[in-house]
Amino acid sequence: MENQSMEKQSELYRGKAKTVYTTADPNFLILEFRDDTSAFDGERIEQLSRKGMVNNRFNHFIMSKLAAAGIPTQMERLLSDTECLVKKLDMIPVECVVRNRAAGSLVRRLGVEEGLELNPPTFELFLKNDALHDPMVNETHAIAFGWATAEQLAEMKRLTFAVNAVLKSLFDEAGMLLVDYKLEFGVFEGTIVLGDEFSPDGCRLWDKETLTKLDKDRFRQGLGGVVEAYEEVAKRLGVELPA
Ligand code: TMP
Repeated sequence: MENQSMEKQSELYRGKAKTVYTTADPNFLILEFRDDTSAFDGERIEQLSRKGMVNNRFNHFIMSKLAAAGIPTQMERLLSDTECLVKKLDMIPVECVVRNRAAGSLVRRLGVEEGLELNPPTFELFLKNDALHDPMVNETHAIAFGWATAEQLAEMKRLTFAVNAVLKSLFDEAGMLLVDYKLEFGVFEGTIVLGDEFSPDGCRLWDKETLTKLDKDRFRQGLGGVVEAYEEVAKRLGVELPA
């Protein structure tokens, strides 16, 4: 790729925590991770110093591990502390959630105890729509409304569980439980590719021994020490962070 393709051109999309920029190459975008941290579908937003940097580095580390395990990802490379270069995907507006333990909306919905082990791990779909509060949907909704084809959904599900196999053991070896996580996929040249990010903003991670929360639940529940927890997760995994 030409050097100029790595420069940001114009803002394409501003999400709650990341901004997406075009580059000179129509097949590539730049993701900028901001310090903004949101909860409750954007109703609460705060700036947490260093969070953009930590999540950008963390996401690059995880995406590299997943790519090494054969999972197609949009990641090309790190560009700076808060930016990375990615393939431009046509995003599918459906979020894939796998849960190894009960927490969050599953606990609220079914009244089960937080931390209950789920065997087998569960798989859920949510429509990406803040105004509707990301409602849970199923595969027939996704097909009937044209959000994804049956084949795309099958591939998204296969890849989401493949990610579980890789990351459960990665976090386990670093003394953490991967409780649940959310993935987003898109299409690049006809194939399903993992997009968006994997960071403590979009998963739940607990210390294996103490069950201390090390993810965005610290922000949602007002527990404090949010970025400190993210940095602890990064340190345990060996993610390099600038001082
Ligand atoms: P939930 O318990 O709120 O349904 O969330 C399950 C997991 O997915 C949790 O790790 C948070 C993540 N998630 C997001 O990051 N964004 C979302 O919009 C949703 C619905 C879930």
